[in-house]
Amino acid sequence: MTSFDFVVARNDLEQCKLIDTTLPDAAALPADTLLVKVDRFAFTANNVTYAVMGDELKYWQIFPAPQGFGNIPVWGFGEVIASAHPSVPAGERLFGYFPMATHLVIEATDVSKRGLRDGAAHRQGVAPVYNAYARVGGDPAYAGRQGDYQALLRPLFMLSFLVDDFLAENDDFGARTVLLSSASSKTAFGLAHLLHTRGRKVTGLTSSGNTGFVSKLGCYDDVVTYDRIASVPADIPVAFVDMAGNSALRAALHQHFRDQMKCSVRVGLTHRATDANEGVLPGAKPRWFFAPDHIRKRAKEWGPGGIEQRFGAAWSGFAPMLERCLSVVESRGPDAVQQVYLDTLKGRIPPEQGHMLSLFG
Ligand SMILES: NC(=O)c1ccc[n+]([C@@H]2O[C@H](COP(=O)([O-])OP(=O)(O)OC[C@H]3O[C@@H](n4cnc5c(N)ncnc54)[C@H](OP(=O)(O)O)[C@@H]3O)[C@@H](O)[C@H]2O)c1
Repeated sequence: MTSFDFVVARNDLEQCKLIDTTLPDAAALPADTLLVKVDRFAFTANNVTYAVMGDELKYWQIFPAPQGFGNIPVWGFGEVIASAHPSVPAGERLFGYFPMATHLVIEATDVSKRGLRDGAAHRQGVAPVYNAYARVGGDPAYAGRQGDYQALLRPLFMLSFLVDDFLAENDDFGARTVLLSSASSKTAFGLAHLLHTRGRKVTGLTSSGNTGFVSKLGCYDDVVTYDRIASVPADIPVAFVDMAGNSALRAALHQHFRDQMKCSVRVGLTHRATDANEGVLPGAKPRWFFAPDHIRKRAKEWGPGGIEQRFGAAWSGFAPMLERCLSVVESRGPDAVQQVYLDTLKGRIPPEQGHMLSLFG
């Protein structure tokens, strides 16, 4: 049996191709191994960031590819089509981290009623969340359109939730307004929704083509295009959460707000325009927000289930917004997957679209 994998050249992300790999015989799987068909997965700018940071953050090691190539991890659904684990039957539906491929072989470990982990040696050494699979068969929250929203938004909204919590815990560092770059991104508008819900003023920074979408979301108090930053009053304390990762933009904001820049947090790289020598900027020193650290801290403080319970409540408040602002677009087959991949890479996907893909035609 064969799996088809969509791989990209690590040093030139515009080069991509489909390769085939041989799967183990379904009737003779090693003990505890699952053969999983990758049904459908979400693709957003976040997945491109996985590729950009593939070496640095070890994303390339999760789903091995031929020398010089990488398989970009995606969030989605798989169906167990053959199982050599006594507690996981064929037909089981899993939600988690998958390769852009038709199939994945999982070495099931830590199997419980709710989930399991892939214990494959090459997957160790990354954050535990990347090796966990939820058993979601029969759970309506993961079925149909709700399931698409989970794949498209849940991992991103976790970051939104954690950054909001980090800011709230620090009294927003004294900021009266929070500025978000790439305001049209799903991660940014999830955060804007949370900030808005707790009464914080939020300004969205975006490109001119996306101002209409951002303005209509209802969770931004102001929307400013990147070329109009100088028009924002600079005499109020602000916090900046950076999804764009554009060093020229970050420098311009710090120069504009100077000491009023009370906090500057980096979380994304949508613009992929970084300058290693950005030098010392006025105001708070920009720093990366590392989600696993914040999760560890809160897991300790809030105890078992504490994060899940609070995150669940936040998700319930956010999910209705998705019906209104996001249209799910489904694409099937290798050519369609390649097209959506390249369009995402080049920033050509309208922000109101959420793409669900499958390599099966
Ligand atoms: N650190 C973490 O743990 C973590 C977790 C979740 C997400 N993130 C990061 O947050 C960022 C947003 O991810 P997402 O999946 O939410 O994005 P998304 O919804 O796909 O965002 C799309 C938006 O990003 C901007 N953009 C995308 N591609 C671009 C390109 N090639 N050139 C210029 N602008 C481009 C555009 O926004 P504008 O026109 O508004 O700029 C576009 O509307 C990613 O960098 C992601 O990695 C980080």
